[in-house]
Amino acid sequence: MPKKIKISVVGIGLMGQQHIKAINKSKLCVLHSIVEIKKYESKSKKKLRVPVYSNIEYLIKENKPDAVIIATPNNLHEKHTIKFLKSKIPVLLEKPISDKITSAKKIIKAAKISRTPLLIGYHRRHNSIVNVVRTVIKSGKLGRIVSANILFWIYKHKKYFKENWRTSEGGGPLGINLVHDLDMICYLLGPITYVQAFTSNKVRNYKVEDTASVNLIFKSGALCTINISDTIVSPWSYELTAGENPAYPITNQSSYFIGGTKASIKFPNIKIWYYKNERSWWNFIKSKKIKTNKSHDTLINQINHFSKVVQKKTKPKVTGEDGLISLKIFDAITKSANSGKKIKI
Ligand SMILES: NC(=O)c1ccc[n+]([C@@H]2O[C@H](COP(=O)([O-])OP(=O)(O)OC[C@H]3O[C@@H](n4cnc5c(N)ncnc54)[C@H](O)[C@@H]3O)[C@@H](O)[C@H]2O)c1
Repeated sequence: MPKKIKISVVGIGLMGQQHIKAINKSKLCVLHSIVEIKKYESKSKKKLRVPVYSNIEYLIKENKPDAVIIATPNNLHEKHTIKFLKSKIPVLLEKPISDKITSAKKIIKAAKISRTPLLIGYHRRHNSIVNVVRTVIKSGKLGRIVSANILFWIYKHKKYFKENWRTSEGGGPLGINLVHDLDMICYLLGPITYVQAFTSNKVRNYKVEDTASVNLIFKSGALCTINISDTIVSPWSYELTAGENPAYPITNQSSYFIGGTKASIKFPNIKIWYYKNERSWWNFIKSKKIKTNKSHDTLINQINHFSKVVQKKTKPKVTGEDGLISLKIFDAITKSANSGKKIKI
């Protein structure tokens, strides 16, 4: 049995706490320490029984971990990640890679120069359902992929908007929720060449959008629409259908619909639709459920993968370049929504 990887978590907010839970459930790693600038409650400190540092320099100087998870705000990703990479400490960096393209490039360069692994925290890629869908698409069972339709319709409650940043630029569903879908659709259908987007704030009347419609053109020629809103009462979003996070009650519906010339697939509640004989809208269309290891543990899958990366048994499944691609697409979507123009990636 190889030695367990000792991981430090930097930033113990919403996401950092989820990572600590995943580390505690993993057989491949242990929590080494935490770094948090806020005063950490002594009760939680005692429970975790690990050293707590108030800055990353002390950690690197006094007690180097085998690896680190960075879950600090996006504008601090560059500063924190580069410091660890320069000390040759592998990093699992929360998504998005950074808040700026220039800064994302610096992070990627630091990983290359130091030859130290960098994994970006797009955890959906570690969900077995997503990987089954990818295998089905790659197998050619769906034929040529023609189009995809993604729904992210949820209703964010009133209290959520008490934090001012959630009602101003970057705090809406494009900035908070869309990046996951962008990474996932690229993982499934390949590179995107053009985007066009429209936004609306007509329901909540905040500065930031409450609803958006995003059109994508893939290098393969396939098209995709992502329809996103945080002011619609609906069961159709990846969050409410995949069951990855117990905070969201699961609806057993689907939110991704991908159509090909031979068949279509919907998921997370996976089903394929196809014709047994001649393909014709006048014939009866059949459907088949696909059994999967319904994985509710993507953060554990992710931390296990990261541990294997640190042990040099595998390469990062989501690279810094993948993180940069979704950031560039997001940037183009924002430009398109502001200008009304179609933007080349
Ligand atoms: N993968 C996902 O589904 C997902 C979900 C939510 C957030 N995130 C990402 O996780 C990151 C953190 O988001 P969050 O929602 O947990 O934010 P948060 O505000 O809840 O937590 C961030 C924590 O970092 C701490 N911090 C700030 N500066 C620090 C410093 N210099 N050193 C140490 N700690 C510091 C803050 O005190 C806070 O506790 C962001 O990059 C966000 O985009 C990912």
